[in-house]
Amino acid sequence: MRIGWAITGAGHLLDESVAVMEELSKDNKITILLSNAGEEVLNMYGLFERVAAITGGYYKELALESDQSFSYPISGRFSLGKYDLLIVSPTTSNTVAKIVHGISDTLVTNSVAQAGKGGVKTIVIPVDMEKGDVETILPSKLDLESCADCDECEASKSCPQEAIIAKQEIDLLKCVGCGDCQDSCPFNAIKAGKLITIHMREIDIENTHKLVLMEDIDVLKHPNEIAEFISNII
Ligand SMILES: Cc1cc2nc3c(=O)[nH]c(=O)nc-3n(C[C@H](O)[C@H](O)[C@H](O)COP(=O)(O)O)c2cc1C
Repeated sequence: MRIGWAITGAGHLLDESVAVMEELSKDNKITILLSNAGEEVLNMYGLFERVAAITGGYYKELALESDQSFSYPISGRFSLGKYDLLIVSPTTSNTVAKIVHGISDTLVTNSVAQAGKGGVKTIVIPVDMEKGDVETILPSKLDLESCADCDECEASKSCPQEAIIAKQEIDLLKCVGCGDCQDSCPFNAIKAGKLITIHMREIDIENTHKLVLMEDIDVLKHPNEIAEFISNII
């Protein structure tokens, strides 16, 4: 199959999405499309290189929003029906809101719109699915309570990206999630993978409900459901 897989800027379900994408890439050609925020967040969670490693070759490109300028020419492939499927996972509340309102001003939302025009089935996996609280995972974080305020910050010295503002915080826009800082700090003050609870907003849940009603879009709850969905449509 020829698949387009779009990643938006959500940390929730990101690791799970990348794992399923890696698995699917063994038997399918996958073009990966990253929103600007998707690219940043993949880096923050140390997942960008894994995603890039899947790509290489015709219809196996890594398409970055910043490279596609304002008109997103690569999305034209969807309106021409060149793909069998478009998957958007994980999908931020921002991208869901745009899709349900017919807005197509990003690489990802434009690809969804063009897929609709080209009769390409689209699977969307929104991060804001149901009312209530969900646990989500944070990228690297400097815990100031554990920080011993060393004269020379070993974590900061070890960072190849110079992303750590010692005794303050990590500049996530520079961080590539390599984990060197966690290994270097003798006080274990930098941790990745901390779980936090976030509350789902009503408007985001409402938008997800609208998404379910849209033609040509199938909403799944988890990336682990994708393989079965595909086997049912082949
Ligand atoms: C570390 C990090 C994690 C994020 N996780 C989420 C998330 O799980 N869900 C979400 O809706 N937005 C999340 N965001 C915010 C989005 O990246 C932001 O709204 C962005 O503008 C979305 O753009 P996009 O929809 O074009 O990808 C996160 C931001 C950061 C910095």
